[in-house]
Amino acid sequence: MAFDSHGFTKKQLGLHRPILDGKVNFPLCLAPMVGLTHVALREVIREYMPADAFTIWPTEMLNSRRIPNENLVTTPETMRAPHETGLVPQILGNEEVPIMESVKRLIEWGAEAIDINMGCPVQKALKHNYGVALMGDPSYAAEVVRMTVKNATVPVSVKLRAVGSTKEFDELLSFVSGLRNSGAAWVCLHPRTAAQKRRGSADWEQIKQLHKAVDFPVIGNGDIQTADDAKAMLEETGCDMAMAGRGLAARPWMMWQLGEDLGFASPAGKEGMKAPRTSEEEGAEYGKCLLKLIHLSRQYFGDDLAMRKVRFFVRTTSVWLLFGNALVGVCAKARNVDEMIEGVQKFFEGPVEMSPRTELRQ
Ligand SMILES: Cc1cc2nc3c(=O)[nH]c(=O)nc-3n(C[C@H](O)[C@H](O)[C@H](O)COP(=O)(O)O)c2cc1C
Repeated sequence: MAFDSHGFTKKQLGLHRPILDGKVNFPLCLAPMVGLTHVALREVIREYMPADAFTIWPTEMLNSRRIPNENLVTTPETMRAPHETGLVPQILGNEEVPIMESVKRLIEWGAEAIDINMGCPVQKALKHNYGVALMGDPSYAAEVVRMTVKNATVPVSVKLRAVGSTKEFDELLSFVSGLRNSGAAWVCLHPRTAAQKRRGSADWEQIKQLHKAVDFPVIGNGDIQTADDAKAMLEETGCDMAMAGRGLAARPWMMWQLGEDLGFASPAGKEGMKAPRTSEEEGAEYGKCLLKLIHLSRQYFGDDLAMRKVRFFVRTTSVWLLFGNALVGVCAKARNVDEMIEGVQKFFEGPVEMSPRTELRQ
């Protein structure tokens, strides 16, 4: 048991093995998600980070063939705020030259590590032998890590998917040792199979087994919907860090709740306040976050793209809200950003309940 500076007991969860040379001191991070993990959402979530916490922040997956020729400052997927720290952009690719050029540009852009996607199950990724297809080709996957590490001055990590059965678990282990031997600094395991996509339950047992079997950091991901889920994953699997996707997008204040539970400081500007906990407090906080997200999205992406991104956000995250479908309708019907803001404000005028867990189907 450790004590923090105030003498309170602080449960040591996660971070048994250092990530980013020990700079990361908070055991929860956001997952990379196309269309969602953009600067506006990162900013909304970051406001709930304990003032004394440092974690890593992904981007959505970035195609390494496109990064070399893109304007990283104005491309929506790579927009960033000047104060953002811990950025770990995720690349998708399998060819040395584009990877080399992408890595160089992303490091100049401010990447503190580079993540490689080996979990994307879409047909295009399979056809081009990247994403989850690399998991079927261990030696080439190791080669992709080697070529990325060779061209990077920052750590390189890999995000993986689960294997189907315990028998295949040995294959996962040898796959991961190949990545380790090629210089990967840590891996993140999302233990749903490619066939499951993002539905159904994640097999946390595989995270536990993997963590036990390797000697470098393992991040666990899949089906974390609440701060209690994050603690449960850290406790049950012994992994170094938990990564939450849809659940953290829907509940940005999960960072605050977890920080409070672990004895971290309050987020800046929220000193003396308590994190929302009841379903009505959470529902109201969702409304605040959504309005903030709309304003930030408008500022970064302009009105048209902001509307598309916010609609996607609401479709993905309103599943935790009672009458979430009605909110999807409000955002779909709005003809411009001002109408969207007005509709959202009206929706959250009365109490809105948010449930802790739901069945993830998308
Ligand atoms: C809309 C959406 C887009 C995603 N895009 C990516 C991606 O770009 N890269 C990646 O590694 N995983 C991607 N994922 C998978 C998530 O990173 C994560 O592994 C998955 O959602 C499981 O975590 P969760 O149950 O906490 O949501 C995506 C998931 C969603 C829902």
